[in-house]
Amino acid sequence: MANPTFPRRDPADPDFWDLRYAARFAPWDAGRVPAKLRALAAAGDAPRNVLVPGCGSARDVAYLAEQGWNVLGLDFSAAALEAARAVVGAHAARLREGDVFAPIAEAPFALVYERAFLCALPRRLWGAWAARMAELVEPGGRLAGFFHFDTNDRGPPFGLASQAELDALLAPSFERIEDEAVHDSIPVFAGKERWQVWRRTV
Ligand SMILES: C[S@@+](CC[C@H](N)C(=O)[O-])C[C@H]1O[C@@H](n2cnc3c(N)ncnc32)[C@H](O)[C@@H]1O
Repeated sequence: MANPTFPRRDPADPDFWDLRYAARFAPWDAGRVPAKLRALAAAGDAPRNVLVPGCGSARDVAYLAEQGWNVLGLDFSAAALEAARAVVGAHAARLREGDVFAPIAEAPFALVYERAFLCALPRRLWGAWAARMAELVEPGGRLAGFFHFDTNDRGPPFGLASQAELDALLAPSFERIEDEAVHDSIPVFAGKERWQVWRRTV
């Protein structure tokens, strides 16, 4: 089936995502919990306080809540959250409509889980994203998840051109403590994403 067409919107605005979730067009949605997140949860060091920025349909939020984690899924798209409520069921209190760049009462977090949030942001916002991650992760806490590498002009997803680009964004406040290949990517990200864990240093 051909991709549907949508009115032109900026991915920095909720409208962009509302249109797509309302049309049930979400090719970034894995529809399952990635093995790397399951492994992190199984490692037995459940952080107190976890944020999933740009949680979308929130399958990962549901999973972490089921594991007993104190997780907050945040998204500024009302349509995404409508889809999320159907997914999380009894864990609906874990969801909140809001902008990741606006104040969050529970911050800072022991863990921020990244999946398809950075690559959803236009590249002009990446510096602000890195600064925001340094605010949202507590000292010694972790930013963990999937990072998308690609040299495409048109997005989303907007890919990182190189590891050096991500290092330059995060190195001022984080050190990379894990970097692994991903073997269960969905087609949009296959061969182009890596699992990384970054520890907040300063
Ligand atoms: C590509 S989707 C990924 C959703 C989900 N993380 C997943 O893996 O399926 C990006 C999501 O980020 C949300 N988003 C983008 N910018 C945001 C912002 N500034 N604040 C909150 N949510 C945002 C969008 O509404 C969308 O649901």
